[in-house]
Amino acid sequence: MDMLVNLYDLKRDAALDQKMADQGVTIRRALPPELHTIASWIGPRFGQGWVSEATAAMMRQPVSLWIAVKDGEVLGFACYDATARGFFGPTGVDEAMRGKGIGHALLLATLLAMYDQGYGYGVIGGAGPTGFYSRAVGAVVIAGSEEGIYKGMLSASHATGITYS
Ligand SMILES: CC(C)(COP(=O)(O)OP(=O)(O)OC[C@H]1O[C@@H](n2cnc3c(N)ncnc32)[C@H](O)[C@@H]1OP(=O)(O)O)[C@@H](O)C(=O)NCCC(=O)NCCS
Repeated sequence: MDMLVNLYDLKRDAALDQKMADQGVTIRRALPPELHTIASWIGPRFGQGWVSEATAAMMRQPVSLWIAVKDGEVLGFACYDATARGFFGPTGVDEAMRGKGIGHALLLATLLAMYDQGYGYGVIGGAGPTGFYSRAVGAVVIAGSEEGIYKGMLSASHATGITYS
């Protein structure tokens, strides 16, 4: 299912910012020279489909991919305008680092960047954990979006064999 998020009423969350600061986690826009580092972090955790979407986001100017970083290590990422304009996602946090607010902080930073870029609403494309999105930013499911933009997509077995290491 796709979900819709109102961006124009979205506010920064000072408590969440503080939570990230207390944990030593920085949430920031990625830099183009970080492409291969980020791609090789995403690949083994979330697969080559997400590497491809992240690469599309990294190619934009301004870059539409955000990362969570601690001590020079990537902890998570989130992007927008990857598969379609106005779409948020994919996003992922390292399994060992989940439940600490990092996914929420990445989501909010990315959606606020979308608003700054002129979008009024964001679409969460093919939202997996709908409870996460409704809880964190009040997203609502879009009726009739079951098949969505990924309908008919080639599966990984049809991939070109490109790997990032
Ligand atoms: C979804 C994901 C990014 C969330 O990251 P996270 O850092 O664990 O999330 P947070 O700690 O910021 O959680 C924020 C809130 O959402 C809730 N939440 C987290 N994951 C949830 C889920 N799967 N379902 C429902 N609620 C969820 C948390 O309990 C928390 O609620 P609280 O603020 O009341 O405590 C992470 O679980 C992940 O990487 N999942 C695998 C990849 C994935 O499914 N990505 C989404 C693709 S569309």
